Amino acid sequence: ANKLLVFADTGIDDAMAIIYALQHPDVELAGIVGDFGNVSRDQALRNASYLLSLADRKGVPVIAGATRALNGEEPEFFPDIHGEEGLGPIRPPVPAERYANRTNFSRLFQVIKENPNEITIVVLGRCTTLAMAWMINPAVMKRVKATFLMGGAFLVPGNETELAEANFLGDATAANFVCAHAPNVTIVPLNVTRDALLTPADVNLIDSKATTPLLRTIKPMLDFYYESYQVLEPGIQGTPQHDLTALMAAMEVPNLLSYKRRNVQVEDQGRYSSGLSVADFRPASAACSGPYCPRIAVQLDFSVFRANVLDILTRS
Ligand code: BDR
Ligand code: CA
Repeated sequence: ANKLLVFADTGIDDAMAIIYALQHPDVELAGIVGDFGNVSRDQALRNASYLLSLADRKGVPVIAGATRALNGEEPEFFPDIHGEEGLGPIRPPVPAERYANRTNFSRLFQVIKENPNEITIVVLGRCTTLAMAWMINPAVMKRVKATFLMGGAFLVPGNETELAEANFLGDATAANFVCAHAPNVTIVPLNVTRDALLTPADVNLIDSKATTPLLRTIKPMLDFYYESYQVLEPGIQGTPQHDLTALMAAMEVPNLLSYKRRNVQVEDQGRYSSGLSVADFRPASAACSGPYCPRIAVQLDFSVFRANVLDILTRS
């Protein structure tokens, strides 16, 4: 089994990635770190806990991540795209306990120490918590097997700005740090994930086979997401599954993605280009090599994506 530690700013496509992980027979979910991003950190935690409770998997640790970016800026949330609480029309119950203010690094490090060289990290939101974890305890973090990031846009446009993708822009300092300092990184950028569309017909098919409370959340969430996307990109045929694609990459679904290896920088001092992800794809540019050379997804095989998603999400 693949042991995944998922960092989520639990909005709709994050939820789809988590549901896929919970449904997949080869995934052992080692924990979910809730981070600010689409929603506040506490809402991300609440949404993750809710999905786990629907799946009867309350034993999976839910770990408090970061509440704001490394530069200290007040975060902006995205209710227009992901709904008031991040899961479209779904409103998870408010838990009795309050979350501690601090990022729970000790719990995060504990998960890694308990599974040395077995954990694959998948970041579906800002890189803040991950970057801090590397700064605080590189000795423990070196026991992570591999890291997958949903982030960046290597072909413009971005989504949050004309040049930048939301996760990298949301903490450009952290994204830049992780791309340079974490080994075995794979980046699954927006220019690839925007091809990973689920159509309303696909959603109806999934819903027609949904026998569990967890799977029954998909249609209301993705119907909402579809309406949001009609505003963002009028006429789009479905909803782009950014975070789900990154999670599938972490599962190394055969032939899903092709990759190029290049060093990556993220503009964290920008005047006109904040959050821009930069890699050299000119025809004569050479691939980098070694553990500190990230692998960048450059192309999605859509038919592989769709077949795999429908297979996993229509299992009971
Ligand atoms: C990313 O930003 C968020 O809206 C999504 O959840 C995804 O992680 C796409 O840019
Ligand atoms: Ca996300």
